[in-house]
Amino acid sequence: MAADWTAIEALPSPGLAELFANDPDRLARLSLDVAGIHFDWSKTHLTADAIAAFEKLAHGSDLAGKRDAMFRGEPVNVTENRPVEHTAERGEGKPESVARAAAYHTRMRAVIDAIEAEAFGPVRHVLHVGIGGSALGPDLLVDALGRESERYDVAIVSNVDGSALEEAFARFDPAATLLVVASKTFTTTETILNATSTIGWMTEHGVDDPYGRVIALTAAPDAAIAWGVDETRVLPFSEGVGGRYSLWSSIGFPAAVKLGWDAFQELLEGAAEMDRHFRLSALHENAPALAAFADLYYTQVRHAETRATFAYDERLRLLPSYLQQLEMESNGKGVTVSGEPVARPTAPITWGGVGTDAQHAVFQLLHQGTHLVPVEFVAVIEAGDVLDEEHHRLLLLNAFAQGAALMAGKQVDDPARSYSGDRPSSTLLLDHLDPRTLGALIAFYEHRVFVSGVLLGINSFDQFGVELGKEMAKAAAKGSGDFDASTADLIRRAGLD
Ligand code: F6P
Repeated sequence: MAADWTAIEALPSPGLAELFANDPDRLARLSLDVAGIHFDWSKTHLTADAIAAFEKLAHGSDLAGKRDAMFRGEPVNVTENRPVEHTAERGEGKPESVARAAAYHTRMRAVIDAIEAEAFGPVRHVLHVGIGGSALGPDLLVDALGRESERYDVAIVSNVDGSALEEAFARFDPAATLLVVASKTFTTTETILNATSTIGWMTEHGVDDPYGRVIALTAAPDAAIAWGVDETRVLPFSEGVGGRYSLWSSIGFPAAVKLGWDAFQELLEGAAEMDRHFRLSALHENAPALAAFADLYYTQVRHAETRATFAYDERLRLLPSYLQQLEMESNGKGVTVSGEPVARPTAPITWGGVGTDAQHAVFQLLHQGTHLVPVEFVAVIEAGDVLDEEHHRLLLLNAFAQGAALMAGKQVDDPARSYSGDRPSSTLLLDHLDPRTLGALIAFYEHRVFVSGVLLGINSFDQFGVELGKEMAKAAAKGSGDFDASTADLIRRAGLD
């Protein structure tokens, strides 16, 4: 049954200034502390009545039942008839799935120990090839947490554009490089070509047994073995772990190598803490649920088409790209779980950048443009740098001031110099950027996407939308595509026919 949004649409919608003026408890009501993260939604238009209406909608959509079914390992990915097992990777889920994930982690740890013991020869460089969920998560982890680690030099290469791989080749010594091939399906064209070219580069540079220096991270071990990876160096994960939810599994290998096993374990524990919060807290004090309610309020009631996340921390500069896949591949859907066309907009177009840079580039539109863009600020109290503390002071104060300016606005005689204000933002303030807190943060985003998916009646766990383009690219590569005149002309002009 389609959710009934009329109660939410019918709610009065006072401006933010009025909401603050009329409710002395607003800040307390709309902020929450979970797992080292302070969440503040008070500068959104959510009200107690809106939250109550969303709770009803969630009840009508059986959110609690679906959440529990996911944790119980039922096949909530209905179009593929699969369970959704990423929470089991961090110890929260069906006992059999948790045990299997733990066994896979033990195997992963043993391979890392073997690398550290130089069992595969000397390793200084780790070249990870993978794309989408097999790259974005590990890249975020390594970039956010690995800056000070002097352990292995890790490069994550995703693009099929050979320039990306060449950049890594220029930095790395082939004789000291470990090739990590990350692909859930082990069929992804870009990844297989990048892996094959890396083997070629190693061979050209005199590496005797390049396949002996390959680790595969995959849910299709047979395909990895058939490609040439020795079974002992295949690190599997479960089919029920979706690509964009897979950084907790062996796909997180480059992060575990770079940061060390204890740090990887802490990442999982932080995520598990958020899992328990999501599973056990009432919706009006449940961080993923409240964030999803705000998202849905803006997309469904205020017709916002996008949501922007700005990381006020260089270490989180890859967070917006990571969130793009998580949000848009999960909830960018046009049909409901039962295959009916959706009646409402689904995922917001998810974008963002890094503060303060973005202030000098895109914030003009946020402050005065005609689009309504709910903004999310993510900042960390503990600085990532050791320079004069003025850097971090200014960084954080800029984040907070932007939220204040979006809300307050300013009216002067000149319309070009006026700001409407009443523009929503939320803030996520982390105490520290450590593995545990980052784990909790990422798990928060995963569950937020899940809540939106349930309330929209869609399946957040398939991604058939990416297939047609892949098929057509494969056909083009084989020279067998039957293309329209424009595409055929482009292929011909590039000399690819
Ligand atoms: O094309 C999209 C996608 O299927 C993503 O869902 C996935 O994360 C990515 O490709 C990579 O897939 P694989 O891990 O199977 O190589």
